[in-house]
Amino acid sequence: MEIIILPTPDDVARTAADAIEEQVRRGPSVLGLATGSTPLGTYQELIRRHQEDGLSFAAAQAFLLDEYVGLHAAHPQSYHSFIRKEFTESVDFGDGTVHGLDGLAGDPAAEAARYEARIAAAGGVDIQVLGIGTDGHVGFNEPMSSLASRTRIKTLTRQTRQDNARFFAALEDVPDHVLTQGLGTIREARHLLLLAMGEAKAEAVAAAVEGPVAAVCPASALQLHPHVSVLVDEAAASRLAHRGYYQDTFGRKPAWQGL
Ligand code: GLP
Repeated sequence: MEIIILPTPDDVARTAADAIEEQVRRGPSVLGLATGSTPLGTYQELIRRHQEDGLSFAAAQAFLLDEYVGLHAAHPQSYHSFIRKEFTESVDFGDGTVHGLDGLAGDPAAEAARYEARIAAAGGVDIQVLGIGTDGHVGFNEPMSSLASRTRIKTLTRQTRQDNARFFAALEDVPDHVLTQGLGTIREARHLLLLAMGEAKAEAVAAAVEGPVAAVCPASALQLHPHVSVLVDEAAASRLAHRGYYQDTFGRKPAWQGL
């Protein structure tokens, strides 16, 4: 894991956008997109680069991490709608190249298997953007998710429903169930970009990065991945015991190395 502590959320967004741009400019790419507020700055920066610098997503495909069960893709709070509104409708992905899970699927297990097959058929995810929940979840893999889990249905914790209630009219409107890529699925992406900003994420970041690999903190599964970049602002890094070490090594990193 490479832990990169940046001064501000804008620096996190720019650095994440740099890594995604580098991947996209390399050739046809498969992007793994997260929802939630954390990657919004990154998506805004990518939109800006599309509009001002000609960064094109025409040869890219994208897969969403997760979706609420019971919400139609057109529902304003579905993750399909979220990613369209916040990112993909403002750039040039081709028709049918932004994939998500069907929250209305009659057979969620079959939908999950179909999604895994689509990711595999696309050649796997090149770069996966991840946020982290205050309870250490990634995607919607809540605590005690198997570190080897595949795409499946999950029940949200009370804490996650409360955290996400701000996007809905009322807490009762937040669905109980979701479909999410599993931790085993996420770990097959070739490069993971875990983003976190703000003091509220500091404890989860410390547990994920410096704690033991344990299902109680699902993001700790990322420690088993060979290529993870953890991009955090000062506030999200505030509970890390080895901050000085991360800053020192990043400061002396050769410029040619990239993320
Ligand atoms: C949500 C999403 C995750 C996201 C996390 C943090 O529930 N399923 O993909 O990373 O929780 O959300 P936010 O970025 O809004 O803090």
